Amino acid sequence: MRTTMDRIAPIFLFLLLIIDTSTAIDTINTTQSIRDGETILSANGAYELGFFSPGNSANRYLGIWYTKISVMTVVWVANRETPLNDSSGVLRLTEQGILVLSNRNGSKVWSSDSSRPATNPAAQLLDSGNLAVKEEGDDNLESSLWQSFEHPADTLLPEMKLGRNRITGMDSYITSWKSPDDPSRGNVSEILVPYGYPEIIVVENSIVKHRSGPWNGLRFSGMPQSKPNPKYSIEFVFNEKEIFYRYHVLSQSMPWRVTVTQGGDVQRFTWIEQTRSWLLYLTLNTDNCERYALCGANGICSINSSPMCGCLNGFVPKVQSEWELTDWSSGCVRRTPLNCSGDGFQKVSAVKLPQTKTSWFNRSMNLEECKNTCLNNCSCTAYSNLDIRDGGSGCLLWFDDLLDVRILVENEPDIYIRMAASELDNGYGAKIETKANEKKRIILSVVLSTGILFLGLALVFYVWKRHQMKNSMLHSHHEILTSSMPLPLCFHIVLI
Ligand SMILES: *[C@@H]1O[C@H](CO)[C@@H](O)[C@H](O)[C@H]1NC(C)=O
Ligand SMILES: *[C@@H]1O[C@H](CO)[C@@H](O)[C@H](O)[C@H]1NC(C)=O
Ligand SMILES: *[C@@H]1O[C@H](CO)[C@@H](O)[C@H](O)[C@H]1NC(C)=O
Ligand SMILES: *[C@@H]1O[C@H](CO)[C@@H](O)[C@H](O)[C@H]1NC(C)=O
Ligand SMILES: *[C@@H]1O[C@H](CO)[C@@H](O)[C@H](O)[C@H]1NC(C)=O
Ligand SMILES: *[C@@H]1O[C@H](CO)[C@@H](O)[C@H](O)[C@H]1NC(C)=O
Ligand SMILES: *[C@@H]1O[C@H](CO)[C@@H](O)[C@H](O)[C@H]1NC(C)=O
Repeated sequence: MRTTMDRIAPIFLFLLLIIDTSTAIDTINTTQSIRDGETILSANGAYELGFFSPGNSANRYLGIWYTKISVMTVVWVANRETPLNDSSGVLRLTEQGILVLSNRNGSKVWSSDSSRPATNPAAQLLDSGNLAVKEEGDDNLESSLWQSFEHPADTLLPEMKLGRNRITGMDSYITSWKSPDDPSRGNVSEILVPYGYPEIIVVENSIVKHRSGPWNGLRFSGMPQSKPNPKYSIEFVFNEKEIFYRYHVLSQSMPWRVTVTQGGDVQRFTWIEQTRSWLLYLTLNTDNCERYALCGANGICSINSSPMCGCLNGFVPKVQSEWELTDWSSGCVRRTPLNCSGDGFQKVSAVKLPQTKTSWFNRSMNLEECKNTCLNNCSCTAYSNLDIRDGGSGCLLWFDDLLDVRILVENEPDIYIRMAASELDNGYGAKIETKANEKKRIILSVVLSTGILFLGLALVFYVWKRHQMKNSMLHSHHEILTSSMPLPLCFHIVLI
């Protein structure tokens, strides 16, 4: 009995010590440091800050990863561009509230910055995975001196804002790692661009690869996959102070991330504990119509058509020969040029709204006011509601060629495309004409059928009469009449 207690007691004490040290520290102040090999944990134990080597690399980086996940998954890296080549790295917090990572020589490898002087700063790894420098005891994130969430790497975590702070002018966006062994900036980024009406775009070396479409009150219009679901919601904020979007997960304990890959994709993952792996449940590259502006200006992409690209109604290929060779890049032009005063609009439904780079918007206008505003400006090419909720509200105007339109299954705001009046006349005229033709055909076939029936009856009557008269001329007459019978029948078929 005594001996077992003697054996167990030290182990128990040791365990207590481990638990104590690993749960206690989520913060460092100016007198503390984190050396390679040491880590701090967020209070909920979900995230860990320390040094790591990615993939097959021997370099050391300061980063944040998930504590409880068996597959090492790094969500943030401090010294992306300036790796340490040994385990001599040390992270300290200066009196000014600046995080400094230094190497063996004590020279600075990476540092954070600060918007204002600090008095008693502390750096805390928050439950969200955000590393925040703030005044000791001040839990208001808004007044923090610096946050890793404002300097993302390749991963977007729940509650992280992606977009622009319009007061400081600071943009935050995610950029791919160069490779699994190298977290330095790759050439693919996902950015909320604050132009005309903001949209999310994915760029590869500043060439646009994908566009989300404008926010329609519920989701980004080109991302119908993002409709309300039990896992997460998306919030879009656009006001005088900031423009951003962020995800809220509905179950806080569910690890969840969005990552931009060097292959040019943006992937949403959720952790499945049963299989101990990340489940990729949404990717951006779902089909070819997702390729930015594949069909050129004023083109429309339809994934169920072959070829995929067509021109919007009333537009024709700019270079027919290229178009026929499935080079759609030069796009489409109007069949009939606009004539400012006499133009009208063609309604197009269930499409991804065109690029809003040079758009103008007004949140309080209704659709009628929106139409009139567009009509009164000769360079306005299309209009739509801004928000699809409650029957639609707000006004969005386009001024240039309509770019990156695709057919969607979801209901998006209808877009009204400006057309020359004659195009609209033609369009409606053609439809009316086809209807009239249909009527004509029906009448004609009724007349012909009646005629054939009448002729048949007459023939039967004639034959019967002749037969009664027992005339020898019967046979020849009979033959003439039967051979003429199929003639109106033929007409009947051809005309229908
Ligand atoms: C830093 O934290 C440690 C441990 O909590 C404490 O002993 C020390 O006084 C703190 N230093 C400052 C400058 O707040
Ligand atoms: C790390 O790099 C420095 C020069 O930047 C070099 O002097 C040193 O030998 C390197 N250390 C190792 C372990 O490679
Ligand atoms: C350390 O300092 C020495 C001399 O200043 C320099 O040659 C060496 O490259 C430095 N090493 C690192 C890792 O910065
Ligand atoms: C981006 O980098 C990858 C290599 O990681 C390369 O294959 C690709 O061509 C680059 N893209 C551009 C547009 O340069
Ligand atoms: C086109 O514009 C001319 C003047 O520029 C005008 O006289 C004409 O009525 C317009 N046509 C239509 C259909 O509005
Ligand atoms: C937006 O539309 C409303 C209603 O028509 C109008 O009162 C307001 O001045 C417009 N705002 C801008 C910036 O044009
Ligand atoms: C038409 O709209 C464009 C873009 O907003 C603007 O630059 C131009 O001044 C407008 N023209 C008129 C006549 O309102």
